[in-house]
Amino acid sequence: MILNSLSLCYHNKLILAPMVRVGTLPMRLLALDYGADIVYCEELIDLKMIQCKRVVNEVLSTVDFVAPDDRVVFRTCEREQNRVVFQMGTSDAERALAVARLVENDVAGIDVNMGCPKEYSTKGGMGAALLSDPDKIEKILSTLVKGIRRPVTCKIRILPSLEDTLSLVKRIERTGIAAIAVHGRKREERPQHPVSCEVIKAIADTLSIPVIANGGSHDHIQRYSDIEDFRQATAASSVMVARAAMWNPSIFLKEGLRPLEEVMQKYIRYGEVRGYSRCGKGRCPFWLEGIEEPQSLSQHWTCHARIWRCSMTTTTPTPSTACARCYENSWSRPREGCSMLPSLPGKFVRPLALVPSMRRPHRSWMPSGPSCQPELQRRQGSQLKIPLVSLRWLSSLTGEHTQPRSPPRCAY
Ligand code: FNR
Repeated sequence: MILNSLSLCYHNKLILAPMVRVGTLPMRLLALDYGADIVYCEELIDLKMIQCKRVVNEVLSTVDFVAPDDRVVFRTCEREQNRVVFQMGTSDAERALAVARLVENDVAGIDVNMGCPKEYSTKGGMGAALLSDPDKIEKILSTLVKGIRRPVTCKIRILPSLEDTLSLVKRIERTGIAAIAVHGRKREERPQHPVSCEVIKAIADTLSIPVIANGGSHDHIQRYSDIEDFRQATAASSVMVARAAMWNPSIFLKEGLRPLEEVMQKYIRYGEVRGYSRCGKGRCPFWLEGIEEPQSLSQHWTCHARIWRCSMTTTTPTPSTACARCYENSWSRPREGCSMLPSLPGKFVRPLALVPSMRRPHRSWMPSGPSCQPELQRRQGSQLKIPLVSLRWLSSLTGEHTQPRSPPRCAY
């Protein structure tokens, strides 16, 4: 067993928020490159994680948590080991502990999601449902604090009354957690509702553990300097950024936002060395529509081919898992006669060549709420018209999950 005595400090930190389908390894590494101090993984459900086996992937230099059906549920690597927080969705203390023990040597901290308002979370008693069950919160958090050697945190939303919110956070603090992230909106509020900086401030004034302010994207955080303004407005120790980082992870860069094209290229590079493709039916790179320059286009295909190749060497890296002809030639996409095509499971990789009609984005993939408007695209100075939902799409391409999912929506 690896003993890691490093303890994560949550004071004065810039944090990439947990984001389902976005916060996968390539995105986390990119955020670290751009200056994030701590990165949260997307919420992973305890019931799923508990079935996983830890596998050291020597080809990609990653540690993979692999489900019985060979799907990689969580992937991490040494570079982020001291800065990645594993966020889980749970409603059961013993299950939470089992999952935390499974991953604790590979991550820097464990977080429990207590803010997700979506039905798939709340109907299982997870996410925001926990907010109305303080006894369960206490049991889960104190079990984790006593049972593992990593710092434990939780991420909550605020309650309808300030009094109830303060009494809940005081109870949470007594469990011994290391910090608390507060999304300054109520359970039924959506991103278009204003974030309550005053409630976060009242929590920060009340507690002695670090409070991580969250909820400021769009209205408060549009550029790097806004992050500190938001921190001051909330009197919090640290700031956690979700949507502004999803739109452009270089939000963490002191020097200012980088053009989206550059960010995407870096992202694809991380996908290429750390991830693998999940280009199934309907998962095509509609973001390419905005790229007119032929060079970018061919670069993309080359990168895509590399991602595709990695897909063949995910957990069972033998030479026979790659088609030598495609591999050697670095072909931009698998050609006809590629010996690997028939043996690839359909759910895993469907070469783009086979689904040419899917190039156009489906309308439902486009951002839905006002908070998803492509404002940063206007602001960040790139001449390219790349839909901002692209990074989310890219994350699904290189992300851990391989099962088909519904198109992303901005419901948080
Ligand atoms: C989220 N959020 C979220 N929260 C969480 O605790 N676990 C999760 O897995 C997710 N997933 C997720 C996906 C996507 C696409 C979005 C946009 C949001 C909520 C997120 O962490 C954050 O609390 C809110 O987005 C508010 O912060 P910002 O966006 O104002 O910085």
